[in-house]
Amino acid sequence: MADSGPTLSNLSMESRSFPPSEEFAAQANATEEWYARGDDDREGFWAEQAERLHWHQKWDQVLDWQPPFAKWFVGGKLNVAYNCVDRHVDEGHGDQVAFHWEGEPGDTRTITYADLKSEVSKAANALTELGVQAGDRVAIQLPMIPEAVFSMLACARLGAMHSVVFGGFSPGALKARIEDAECKLLITSDGQYRRGKPAPMKENTDEAVAQTPTIEHVLVVKRTETDVPWTEGRDVWWHDIVDRQSGEHEAQPFDAEHPLFILYTSGTTGKPKGILHTSGGYLTQAAYTHHVVFDHKPGESVYWCTADIGWVTGHSYIVYGPLANRATSVMYEGTPNTPHEGRHWEIVQKYGVSIYYTAPTLIRTFMKWGKEIPEKYDLSSLRVLGSVGEPINPEAWMWYRENVGRDNCPIVDTWWQTETGAIMIAPLPGVTATKPGSAMRALPGISAEVVTEEAQPVGPGGGGYLVLDKPWPSMLRGIWGDEERFRDTYWSRFADQGYYFAGDGAKYDDDGAIWLLGRVDDVMNVSGHRISTTEVESALVSHPTVAEAAVVGASDETTGQGIVAFVILRGNAAKDGGEDAIKALRDHVAKEIGPIAKPRQIMVVEELPKTRSGKIMRRLLRDVAENREVGDVTTLADSTVMDLISSGLKEGK
Ligand code: WT7
Repeated sequence: MADSGPTLSNLSMESRSFPPSEEFAAQANATEEWYARGDDDREGFWAEQAERLHWHQKWDQVLDWQPPFAKWFVGGKLNVAYNCVDRHVDEGHGDQVAFHWEGEPGDTRTITYADLKSEVSKAANALTELGVQAGDRVAIQLPMIPEAVFSMLACARLGAMHSVVFGGFSPGALKARIEDAECKLLITSDGQYRRGKPAPMKENTDEAVAQTPTIEHVLVVKRTETDVPWTEGRDVWWHDIVDRQSGEHEAQPFDAEHPLFILYTSGTTGKPKGILHTSGGYLTQAAYTHHVVFDHKPGESVYWCTADIGWVTGHSYIVYGPLANRATSVMYEGTPNTPHEGRHWEIVQKYGVSIYYTAPTLIRTFMKWGKEIPEKYDLSSLRVLGSVGEPINPEAWMWYRENVGRDNCPIVDTWWQTETGAIMIAPLPGVTATKPGSAMRALPGISAEVVTEEAQPVGPGGGGYLVLDKPWPSMLRGIWGDEERFRDTYWSRFADQGYYFAGDGAKYDDDGAIWLLGRVDDVMNVSGHRISTTEVESALVSHPTVAEAAVVGASDETTGQGIVAFVILRGNAAKDGGEDAIKALRDHVAKEIGPIAKPRQIMVVEELPKTRSGKIMRRLLRDVAENREVGDVTTLADSTVMDLISSGLKEGK
């Protein structure tokens, strides 16, 4: 395993372990027996979990597995939006709050399940008026406002697939996604609040839509009240069309395998992959995991997942899982330090949040801001703390436990991916004795292994590749329009065994707990966001001053990894150390992909280290970026290149 980084040895030093309190264990949603039940009769176990949902028609077969193609709950019919909304109203919970929404400027909205039903029905009626039908694709680029949830559920209700694009993505990135899925409708807003100020949105989406002829209409939510350009006939205000619709809408049942959404994520090439998820299995696992991993109690817990709806975490743990489980959730629009660094704790205190789910990068940011900030608030409502997106370092884990959880809340470190659809590896808060930095073990009903290159299980203490050796209900059903890439990316590495290759390195400790070690491919993880090195490289070389570029993820104290680029500049762009060129390039990448892809550092070099076959040796560049002694250079075509790079950089070039 080439690139798992230095964590392997550090992590084996960690020996602390925190068992659940007796009190917590006594009331927990899941017990130790669940593991055996999941192993002994996997399909029976998942059939039981699927009973959490309302099925218009029950399935005939739990699983049809023709590797790598799975069908779950074959013959079953359900409506995902009905399950997330109407069902709870029908069962007498219309007055329960679904969302306490908190806008960045301080405005709030309380949305009950009855409100949600009427809003989603109105939106579904409006989408129908705009020509959206089952099977169509709808692009959504919205800030964290309730209409984002209404839009997703309206699509689900109609059997149309949504493709949510993170609000921070550039017009070019939006365009590529609309184009790939041939979306018919785009739902967006006039603007978005970011760090206390309205920022543009519609100008950007207009730029994308100017180049995407499949888009028939743009549905625009008014959020910031800023003036926006308007295309008559194409653009429609949300309040004009949605508000006048009936609040009644009959949800039709769809096949369990009916597509629910596409969500794009970065792979090892420049082109993002449209990960496809379907209905019955996805919702079953989203609901099950939300129930057991967060020990969620409907009508009692107040749950807050701080992710953005543009990522899979927002899909599964702001929208589908919690709503299927009749959760009362907090949804927050803005940044964690607007208007002050205690904003999250103020929200926890205000709504009595009991389950808080966030990312290591934010925990490390809170650490930097200081423990005095959370200390000022009453956080005694908290019961369970979650982490997702990247390996959490033991130090951040302990800080989270002590300063947010007040030594009193189990921490669930949850490993999963856009592709897995829902949590796969995590402790059960009332069962598992947790270790700082470990995601512990596969959930009941899920099977994971750490194997060698030759697919041999590594056993306690060993390290290797993380694979999922058995199908699971919320697994991706494909990459939109690209079956070959689907097979290649996930199923070719361990084709003989039929294992899903996750792309992560992992190790077992001596007790058999799993420790994730980061990606083993050319995918970076910056603040829990996946960005491919190739994507950033392509953005860089699309700039006229760049002759060649190589990008690596270097470990970063706050963001997990930071993007470090090595560029060869053309002609005299490199004069004066290339200062101007570097600034222009950082802005260029932000414009091409989005601000999250902006390199932390750009180093101007004269050569790049390449193998004889012309492959860039990122491992060596990572050594430079992380200020390490440069490793083995014998496979380089020109072994002096690294000396040139290192000495050039020392001279401050
Ligand atoms: C990649 C998936 C799952 C939603 C957020 C990211 C890394 C995710 C953990 C964790 C160690 C983690 C992996 C994975 N990752 N959670 N708890 N411990 N690594 O979804 O963008 O699809 O990224 O994020 O490397 O492969 P994603």
